[in-house]
Amino acid sequence: MASSLLTRQLAISLQHNLRVAAPGSRYISKTATKTVSEFEYDAPCMKTTVPGPKSQELLRQLGEIQNTGAIHFFCNYEESRGNYLVDVDGNRMLDVYTQISSIPIGYNHPALLKVMTDPNNLSAFINRPALGILPPENFPDKLVESLLSVAPSGMTRVQTMACGSCSNENAFKSMFIWYRNKERGFTSPSEEDIGSCMINQSPGCPDLSILSFMGAFHGRTLGCLATTHSKAIHKLDIPSFDWPIAPFPKLQYPLEEFTRENAQEEARCLEEVEDLILQWRQKGKPVAGIVIEPIQAEGGDNHASPDFFIKLRNIARKHGSAFHVDEVQTGGGATGKFWAHEHWGLEDPADIVSFSKKMLTGGYFHRDELMPDKPYRIFNTWMGDPSKNLFLSEVLNVIRREKLLDQVTRSGEVLMQGLYALQRQYPHVLSRARGQGTFCAIDARTDATRDSIILKAKNKGVFLGSCGERSIRFRPALIFKEYHVHQLLNVLNDVLAEHK
Ligand SMILES: Cc1ncc(COP(=O)(O)O)c(C=O)c1O
Repeated sequence: MASSLLTRQLAISLQHNLRVAAPGSRYISKTATKTVSEFEYDAPCMKTTVPGPKSQELLRQLGEIQNTGAIHFFCNYEESRGNYLVDVDGNRMLDVYTQISSIPIGYNHPALLKVMTDPNNLSAFINRPALGILPPENFPDKLVESLLSVAPSGMTRVQTMACGSCSNENAFKSMFIWYRNKERGFTSPSEEDIGSCMINQSPGCPDLSILSFMGAFHGRTLGCLATTHSKAIHKLDIPSFDWPIAPFPKLQYPLEEFTRENAQEEARCLEEVEDLILQWRQKGKPVAGIVIEPIQAEGGDNHASPDFFIKLRNIARKHGSAFHVDEVQTGGGATGKFWAHEHWGLEDPADIVSFSKKMLTGGYFHRDELMPDKPYRIFNTWMGDPSKNLFLSEVLNVIRREKLLDQVTRSGEVLMQGLYALQRQYPHVLSRARGQGTFCAIDARTDATRDSIILKAKNKGVFLGSCGERSIRFRPALIFKEYHVHQLLNVLNDVLAEHK
């Protein structure tokens, strides 16, 4: 009731905004109160075009050492605050990309500075342990306080890792180990298993597979790359596995207006999933696991309905495959729930949920059955970093104290309404606005138009990311308030008004 009232009020105020937002005029909210926290700036402030002269000189220097083709500009992290990223030329930009969606509560949050300066935490920052063999005394407590306090339903275990790819890579290994243990009836591996694995042959290295989806991104390590299908540049020249790739639903937006067409498209994809599982079983490469993102992110912010995911989960169970939800980009609150898959209302929880980015540490939650049966099967030197758990505990405190998931939902509503408004106003340029919480995207007419909008927005003080072939993606921090949304919409409106 209260939320529908809120939605109505938002709709009314946004209709009003639309009226004042004729091309060239500013997209100004009458309702957004400017509530700048004491630690952050109040607006973007541009001094040069980006990259400015200092960034360009640093690019030249670094270019003598590394490939710098992907670098946008060099940053001054000391001066960056909250939602604003400052570059080395003194340009202050509203950051709607947040280090590829990995900054949970903005730059230099005072709560995190406090963790950093607490003398009790010093040893955790200085002495990075080999967690798999020599964990610190407080490690179990800190896991309970941080990661386990946000464990998705049905998940009783967590394994930390260093990054997103490393988390998925080890999650895949867990699924294979689990699957083979099932096949062997939980007996010990045979002499043949042990001998053959040393020379990469079956049965020790079995012909198992992971089913993934076209457009997916699960990372760039060798195993993960076999499940990544977003851009050729990630995969070119790297040997890969013969694993099944199912079509991901190509839905029409807004989802509510195309429920029948979208349900048909999802049914088509699910049918294909089952066919592929059967085909790969016949090929002698059974599907040990299915991996999927709740929203395909790098691949272009592609959504699917809760019904699709629930049915997919059931298919995995029916065929004895593990169900792995990759929440590396969606996890940590940006969709308005802590985990995006909580929007689905799964009765039968996933088997594995991997995370990284906004969680500050990588890792994965899993069900009891996927616990490795022996040491060193899932292992590396660091297996995460306990100092990141200290930061994560504090991030979670801030999220709870400041009710940031509610904030994300409110800001997300304003952002979506604003994107719909811009799309109506510039139908020749923008289409397919979509999102959940502040995890939003919109398509430009072509990739060149998209890139030009992003470039112009950057020079007007808003730093955006791209994804897919021609999408602009919005990935603000959880502290992105309605006021920031309006700053973003104003700049986008200005850019589009100038766009020829
Ligand atoms: C859904 C998803 N999975 C995995 C990864 C890989 O994470 P990392 O870049 O930390 O290896 C990413 C990175 O963007 C991602 O978005």
